[in-house]
Amino acid sequence: VSDPLAWLADRAAERSAAGLRRRLRVRSAGDGVLDLAGNDYLGLSRHPEVVAGAAAAAAEWGTGSTGSRLVTGSTALHAGLEDDLAAFTGAGAALVTASGYAANLAVVPALAGADDLVVSDAHVHASLVDACRLSRARVEVVPHRDVPAVDRVLAAGGYRRALVVTDSVFSVDGETAPVAALHDVARRHGAVLVVDEAHALGVVGPGGRGVVAAAGLAGEPDVVVTATLSKALGSQGGVVLADPAVVDHLVDTARTVIFDTALAPPSAGAARAALGLLAADPGLPLRARGVAGELAAVTRDRGYEVSPPEAAVVGVRVGPPERAVALAEALLQHGVRVGVFRPPSVPDGVSRLRLTGRADLGGAAVESFATALPPP
Ligand SMILES: Cc1ncc(COP(=O)(O)O)c(C=O)c1O
Repeated sequence: VSDPLAWLADRAAERSAAGLRRRLRVRSAGDGVLDLAGNDYLGLSRHPEVVAGAAAAAAEWGTGSTGSRLVTGSTALHAGLEDDLAAFTGAGAALVTASGYAANLAVVPALAGADDLVVSDAHVHASLVDACRLSRARVEVVPHRDVPAVDRVLAAGGYRRALVVTDSVFSVDGETAPVAALHDVARRHGAVLVVDEAHALGVVGPGGRGVVAAAGLAGEPDVVVTATLSKALGSQGGVVLADPAVVDHLVDTARTVIFDTALAPPSAGAARAALGLLAADPGLPLRARGVAGELAAVTRDRGYEVSPPEAAVVGVRVGPPERAVALAEALLQHGVRVGVFRPPSVPDGVSRLRLTGRADLGGAAVESFATALPPP
């Protein structure tokens, strides 16, 4: 009998040859490494008030939510977090999910089905790609940030209902989407606009309220926002921010709401505390973006090709995957951790180093990075 898993070694060898092997890098507590790889944009994941929020939630509600949102997983803490998130972003209602991935998987299949059309930017996050596939709608992928292309696809008709989906800040290079123009087009065609603000919440827009708020679209009934609690809020979990009718529909129909254990109370408690800190200090997003700007500037001065940061993400194009891995390794030897994005995580096949601006870093950190960065 042949080994049913023998093909795995062949695939692994192919990935090795292409420079695309991944390995889980185990971090040690207190390793003193300067972290420019994580998504802790506001430096809140270890903030004493956020840690205390998690601990208090664990003490009051336990370590697990014990069930899905419809069974036992909707505590007063979840409801309070939802009220806070809706109030902060100006949304009509909020629904917290176990992850940002689950938020996207909730929204798209709940709002689009077999007779419908989803128009997606070519660079959306994998979770939106999967959400589109799960919806069974016809999916038309349009070029990156191409509003006229969205208009053409919607104008061609042949659908019952339509969604337009985009990230507001794209995760690889940190560029923003033309959300206001997309909304104009979507509204003209009676389509709903779905915006993933994972990298924008806490970083972009008035006081970190996101690109949708910056475009003056907070609370518009034909705009549905998803976000994660795992980046600027330093916790874990996701949220859908939408009209109350949409949230009602998700509670009745969305599979990742109905069949997934609800967000754990410590994560909800941490996110709530982090949101309180963000609301109290509108300077936090500015600082994160400022540090991103400084990281981009020193990297460009070194001779690298760098995306101009519009949020706190800095994408550094380095080309072959092996080169990206070698650069990240060299930086780690000097005590600096950066992200490495290789195919299929990059939209254009060009591997990148990915740096994150963090509100809790100062000039000394940027200098350490600049000193450690080898020439291109
Ligand atoms: C744009 C975008 N959307 C959604 C997600 C998923 O969020 P989560 O990690 O909370 O599942 C991520 C990254 O994690 C992301 O970058």
